[in-house]
Amino acid sequence: MDGAIVELGYLGIEASQPEAWRDFLTASVGLEESADSLGSGGYRMDARVRRIIVEPGEADDVAYSGWLASDAAALAVLQERLSEAGLEPRSGSAEEARRRGVADFVALADPAGNPLEIACGPETAAGFASPLVPGGFVTGDQGLGHVVINVDPALYDSTIAFYRDLLGLRISDYINATTPAGPLTVTFFHANARHHSLSVICLARRKRTHHIMFQVAEWDDFGQAFDRCQDQGVEIIQGIGHHPNDHMTSFYGRTPSGFQFEFGWGGRTIGADWQVTTHDRLSDWGHRRP
Ligand SMILES: [Fe+2]
Repeated sequence: MDGAIVELGYLGIEASQPEAWRDFLTASVGLEESADSLGSGGYRMDARVRRIIVEPGEADDVAYSGWLASDAAALAVLQERLSEAGLEPRSGSAEEARRRGVADFVALADPAGNPLEIACGPETAAGFASPLVPGGFVTGDQGLGHVVINVDPALYDSTIAFYRDLLGLRISDYINATTPAGPLTVTFFHANARHHSLSVICLARRKRTHHIMFQVAEWDDFGQAFDRCQDQGVEIIQGIGHHPNDHMTSFYGRTPSGFQFEFGWGGRTIGADWQVTTHDRLSDWGHRRP
């Protein structure tokens, strides 16, 4: 599709405790605070100047998911498609774009009310190195990781259609699982070789965001992050386990805003011969509650 999204490029988080987020992102996850002149709250995980932006506020949820178009022309195509669908994205100001480390963006909400942005022209800078994650995070053309949003059942189908038909994300697969809380359906979308950059669920929870995911390249960095989180008092929600669809080995914990994060290693990528399937469980093994 012309003008399709190519990457989950950045995430803005509205946080009531920005200092707790700073400790969590730097000391537990292993990101680096951005040393730039764009104001506090920016964090790096690779050559991009900002991947996570923490915005002080009361929502304690993702304030914007930043989806990248390949260039300004692709952003214009996307904007036109959204306008034809009756949506009117707001153009971001130059100051807002600088704060996100991109050249330009537009902002809107999906049918379930999740705020998102479509941007182009991400800035890069030399000098990123994480002393805590020497093997680095898996980003590059796979984007920063993934985000999982929780939508009202009545808005599920229209939300799926929005991301698939307007933003050009492609379905990876589905999980229809039975959980202690009842049946759960998850729809997974990819924008590039990463198995999923977005998934959509419906759970009876207040927050829009279920979790965000960071992935590291090296097994030892993964194990050490699991130790670090426990040493620093991060609540572990699910211990180490393995997902049947993306083949990610991961654990889950709680962010300072209450929604969850997943920390992963070893996920598989999607190639041209990918077949969409439906899985019947969330985990092959592990992911047990401590
Ligand atoms: Fe995940």
